[in-house]
Formats: sequence, C-alpha cells, structure tokens
Amino acid sequence: MRSVHVVSHPLVQHNLALLRDKRTKPPEFRRLLGEIATLMVFKATESFATRPRKITTPMGPATGSELRNDILVVPVLRAGLGMANAILQVIPQAQVGFVGLKRDEKTLKPVTYHESLPKNLSRFEILLVDPMLATGGSTIAALDLLHERDACHVRMINLVCAPEGIRAVRARYPRLAIYSAAIDTRLNERGFIIPGLGDAGDRLFGV
Ligand code: PRP
Repeated sequence: MRSVHVVSHPLVQHNLALLRDKRTKPPEFRRLLGEIATLMVFKATESFATRPRKITTPMGPATGSELRNDILVVPVLRAGLGMANAILQVIPQAQVGFVGLKRDEKTLKPVTYHESLPKNLSRFEILLVDPMLATGGSTIAALDLLHERDACHVRMINLVCAPEGIRAVRARYPRLAIYSAAIDTRLNERGFIIPGLGDAGDRLFGV
C-alpha cells in the first residue's frame, strides 16, 4: 500500500497555516489556495513521462524533452476549482474535466450532480484536485467515475486529509498516488477534519 506524499516545502506550509486561520476571508483564501496548488503541482508532476524532442536553437540542433501524454486536470466541484485555475497557469495545455459532488450533510455520502469528462481517459495523465479528503467518499466517487472511463494514470492533489479518509481511499485504490500538504488528526462527528480548515467550498466562495 502506498503512503501519502506530504509536501512539506516551507512555502506550502506557510500558506497552509494562513489558509487554516479562521480570519482569512474568501479573496485571500482563493489566492492562498491557488498559490499552494501551484507549488504542489511541481511535486505531483515530477514523475510525468517524457520523451526526447529534436529542436533547432538559434545556434543549431539540440535535443530537448517533451511530455509524453496529454494532461487532464479534474477539479471536484466546488472547492477543486480554486486549485484547477492555478494549475492551468503552469500547465496551460492541460484539458479540464469536471466532477460535481456534494456531500450529504446527514449521511456524509457523496451525491454526484455533474460529470463532464472525455469518453476515454486512458491516454491522459490525470490530476484529480480537491482541497479536502475527509471521509474519502467524494474522492472514491470521483475515482470510480474516472476508472469507468479507463483512466490509468491518476494522481490526486489535496491540501488536508484525515487518516480515516486515507484508509478508505487506500482500501479501494491502493496504488493511487496522493499528494497532500498535511495529514490531520481525525474527523469529528460531523465528518469535518480536525483541525482542518473548515468547509473549503464555503470559505472559497463565501456561501
Ligand atoms: C467537501 C470537499 C470534498 C468533500 C470531502 O466538498 O471539497 O469534496 O467535502 O469530504 P469527504 O471526503 O467526506 O467526501 P463539499 O461536499 O462540502 O462540497 P463543496 O465543495 O461544493 O462545498
């Protein structure tokens, strides 16, 4: 079973502390979430496959390298949007698919309300992005949708995860690469991550 890659870079951790602060308002929350996603994507994409590419510089022939596969960024709505926009700044050629999931507040089970993905995902390097991994239900539902479409190379980027959610995701997807800025202590009785950062979607969009 693969562990979670915790991105402990000081800039990520500095911004995460500001993001957790309950006084941080939506405009600042959006900016910080974007900055963290931009930093984390470097780590998460480090193992993307490349191939040699012959080029001609103003001085003559040279060999560079290029990405081997197409890239698909898949934000889990709503909160994943705050990360996807930032990732597109550094991978502008990426395509974007959407999965809309809302966790039922009573049952804590995810409800799928939107899905917009290419028919076949086998050719893509996929970055699934969602700031929170709490019970793991939403991540599992998103991964199920991706695998129904033959996804083979999926990396998950989130900010904060709970041990309970990691265990649940690992039970179903033991080989998934997960990149996170923090593994927090636990879930409370309402399924919120403790200490966490509250409801990321609400803090991002103000409602
Ligand atoms: C939050 C969060 C994750 C999910 C995590 O979304 O962004 O998608 O909950 O919880 P889980 O691991 O227990 O499934 P939420 O359902 O609040 O929707 P929102 O982003 O639209 O606010």
